[in-house]
Amino acid sequence: MVYEVRPEQPVDRDDVLRVIATAFGDDGDRVADIWANLGRHRRAGLVVEQGGHVLGHVGLSRGWVDARRSLVEVWVLSPLSVEPDRQRQGVGTALVAAAVETARGSGVPALFLEGDPDYYGDRGFARADAHGFLPAALERTPRVAFRCMLFDAWEEWMVGQLIYPDVWWEHDAAGLRDPRLAKGEEALG
Ligand SMILES: CC(C)(COP(=O)(O)OP(=O)(O)OC[C@H]1O[C@@H](n2cnc3c(N)ncnc32)[C@H](O)[C@@H]1OP(=O)(O)O)[C@@H](O)C(=O)NCCC(=O)NCCS
Repeated sequence: MVYEVRPEQPVDRDDVLRVIATAFGDDGDRVADIWANLGRHRRAGLVVEQGGHVLGHVGLSRGWVDARRSLVEVWVLSPLSVEPDRQRQGVGTALVAAAVETARGSGVPALFLEGDPDYYGDRGFARADAHGFLPAALERTPRVAFRCMLFDAWEEWMVGQLIYPDVWWEHDAAGLRDPRLAKGEEALG
């Protein structure tokens, strides 16, 4: 059956939190809580719906690049969630593509994320450090996993460290911590 990618609406709240919680397994409640608490920092959510059932979600929220000239608003893609029994069917790819188009259409200069380099690299996200950006958690973000996409509004001076709103820190969700950090570094090289 064909599925639809559409903007998240307030009425989707419980479905979205369920999808996030189930997709992220042991970490699910914490990740769902981040999305629930982004509040005024939220910029957009997109859901995949099939026959009235929400089976995937992606969140877009604001961060900043702390550039020499000024603080620059950018967007952050997170979390990306697909119900476990619907993974590997292209749903995540469709959500990433829709999120990129939503961010691009907003006029924001750049979209950042932390995630699997192969997955996001294949979907157009370059290493952010290659452009001179630094991750929010300097010591705990494998550089290869720190990714970005630059849009037309981006200008060369807009480089610096990515800054997250408090909610990421309140949930200790910037970068990775051991043992996941060590495992990630080992796997990513
Ligand atoms: C990551 C996730 C969103 C991908 O969604 P999906 O619908 O399964 O992905 P797609 O079907 O569009 O793409 C499938 C590809 O993703 C790869 N993939 C699936 N899950 C992956 C994961 N956790 N990490 C890296 N790659 C993954 C598959 O190997 C496949 O690769 P291929 O295209 O080279 O064969 C989904 O697996 C998920 O919700 N995982 C749990 C939450 C999570 O880890 N979110 C991402 C945080 S950065």
